Amino acid sequence: MKIGLLVGRENTFPLAFIKKINEMDVDGIRAEFVRLGGTKEAEPCEYRVIVDRISHDIRYYRAFLKNAVLSGTYVINNPFWWSADDKFFNYSVASKLGVAIPRTICLPSKAYPEDVWPESLRNLVFPLDWQGIVDYIGLPAFLKPFDGGGWRHVYKVHSMEELLHYYDLTGELCMVLQQFIDFEHYVRCFCIGKTEIMPVKYDPKHRRYIVEHGHLTPALGERIMRDALIINEALGYDMNTVEFAIQDGIPYAIDFMNPAPDMEESSITSFYFDWVVNAMTKLAIEKAQTGKLSDMFPRWHRMPGVIPAVKAASNIV
Ligand SMILES: Nc1ncnc2c1ncn2[C@@H]1O[C@H](COP(=O)(O)OP(=O)(O)O)[C@@H](O)[C@H]1O
Ligand SMILES: [Mg+2]
Repeated sequence: MKIGLLVGRENTFPLAFIKKINEMDVDGIRAEFVRLGGTKEAEPCEYRVIVDRISHDIRYYRAFLKNAVLSGTYVINNPFWWSADDKFFNYSVASKLGVAIPRTICLPSKAYPEDVWPESLRNLVFPLDWQGIVDYIGLPAFLKPFDGGGWRHVYKVHSMEELLHYYDLTGELCMVLQQFIDFEHYVRCFCIGKTEIMPVKYDPKHRRYIVEHGHLTPALGERIMRDALIINEALGYDMNTVEFAIQDGIPYAIDFMNPAPDMEESSITSFYFDWVVNAMTKLAIEKAQTGKLSDMFPRWHRMPGVIPAVKAASNIV
């Protein structure tokens, strides 16, 4: 059986992951870089498991991965769900599951491609009730893409003028406006295989991971572990980071759609790098041995409290 890896620019994680699996030599399971150059329809995939670190940037890889699922390949992370998911949906699901999130409003885009005619925007209220929006969210606030990553187009706005100024710069992006969490502490959890959770102290200002054991009180640690477990169970990601901003002792889930999280040794520190390589190795081998395709899919639609009981009873789920 083979485990394949699709990679981007990073070096440390892929090499360590492949080396470790091959050294372990469990049940003859081998790991290697996937090699691709055109895929036939319904082509069988030779890999039992593929770890995908880059299909968000390479669309052909996403197409290849969806086809691979048809031949029973367990893909980390699910290429169908990753294509469908977005952060705004994540906030809504999390809030229904009792996870604290900042108040969030998803906004219509500022601009549209030239071939979108005004008639196609007839459902939209114009102008937007900016005062009502700001009354709900408060100021300062964060304006950021509903499906973004890597801190691109993330703005902290302090006034209505600043909000409109930055919104006007966002063009065709779909943005959310979000309550500012004035955090005393920020935690980034590595989440591997939905249940292996490592909460790490993080300094967003300098974008730095900090090795400091015991940075959480037992109660806060327990709450963060509980919330991260709920989030990964609902969204189905096997490789993710979940970020919490803690204000007045409450962990607000800020960003929990990171299906190809940074795993470069120089940025996550050697300590957490070793943890991640171990957890990923264990997960990939386990999935090669016993992974069921159904485990790749999100569960939010089955979790109590997400879809109202009255609708559930009428066969909507
Ligand atoms: N609501 C918020 N309150 C306080 N800080 C925030 C908020 N939203 C985002 N941030 C800050 O901006 C950073 C980037 O935002 P995030 O939602 O994580 O987007 P990305 O996916 O681009 O990382 C966060 O790590 C955090 O430091
Ligand atoms: Mg983030």
